Amino acid sequence: MRRFEGKTIVVTGSGREKGLGQAILQRFADEGANCVVSDLGRPAEHMGAGDIGTTDEMEAVAAELRARGAQVAVIPCDVRSEESCEALAAGAIQAFGSLDIWVNNAGIGYIMKPLLDTSASEWEAVIGVNLTGAFYGTKAAARAMIAAGKGGRVINIASQAAKSGFPHMAPYTASKHGMVGLTRSNAIELGQHGITVNAVCPNHVTTGLGARQNEYFSKLLGFDTVAAYLENMKRKNPMGRPGLGSDTAAACAWLASDDAIYVTGEALNVSGGEEMH
Ligand SMILES: NC(=O)c1ccc[n+]([C@@H]2O[C@H](COP(=O)([O-])OP(=O)(O)OC[C@H]3O[C@@H](n4cnc5c(N)ncnc54)[C@H](O)[C@@H]3O)[C@@H](O)[C@H]2O)c1
Repeated sequence: MRRFEGKTIVVTGSGREKGLGQAILQRFADEGANCVVSDLGRPAEHMGAGDIGTTDEMEAVAAELRARGAQVAVIPCDVRSEESCEALAAGAIQAFGSLDIWVNNAGIGYIMKPLLDTSASEWEAVIGVNLTGAFYGTKAAARAMIAAGKGGRVINIASQAAKSGFPHMAPYTASKHGMVGLTRSNAIELGQHGITVNAVCPNHVTTGLGARQNEYFSKLLGFDTVAAYLENMKRKNPMGRPGLGSDTAAACAWLASDDAIYVTGEALNVSGGEEMH
């Protein structure tokens, strides 16, 4: 199927190989969309050097998408800045003439600490990217989509941590629960413009971020190895495996398709049945 021929998708935080953002763009590239790869592209004080999508990595993600036949633009954006999000939306329109689908995917989940050891600046770093970044991103996308008058789709990559609490991840869990509130509120306001707003809530996927969580939680929960921790995760999942980037990408593709025109304000679990509410 090439359901997104002639449409343009922007995915924030999509400049890391093996990341969910890359998987989402791969799916949309295969379905004919013009793709905007976007990420920080430079070191940031809130992240380790190995944890960000660098300019080289963004270009590598873009090259792979081009090899699939997609038209691709690379536009850096720091989602903590409203101006940067506005520039991303404008850059997408400049490159391809339209902005149809915007995915708030940029996120950090590296700060894993007991509540009492979590500092105010760590709290703010996570909320600033995961939640405030989605707020700025949605504003920029909605402004452009309303001006074009053709409707559009906003998709927020939340998490299983948007539905359940997780230990040692208070800022992350709060940010992802907050994304669901943002989704619902924006869905009500933007429906009149033909814009749907939905969240996708994946369970664990072993991306760069996911690998760091595996290391931390396997130790916290007393597993001898990461492999043993992942084996336990598999056993507990009704579908017998952790998530894949392609699972999240498929949910995004459906939400962005014409079939989902009457679906808005939802927070869709993509968790193999691990999360059911
Ligand atoms: N991997 C999982 O298990 C999992 C599960 C549920 C939800 N998620 C969510 O999926 C999204 C993608 O995560 P991932 O697992 O692919 O990890 P990832 O680290 O590969 O991707 C996150 C991206 O966000 C970018 N980023 C960080 N700060 C930014 C900023 N200020 N501006 C722009 N980009 C910024 C990073 O550079 C990185 O490329 C995140 O929102 C994450 O919370 C991940």
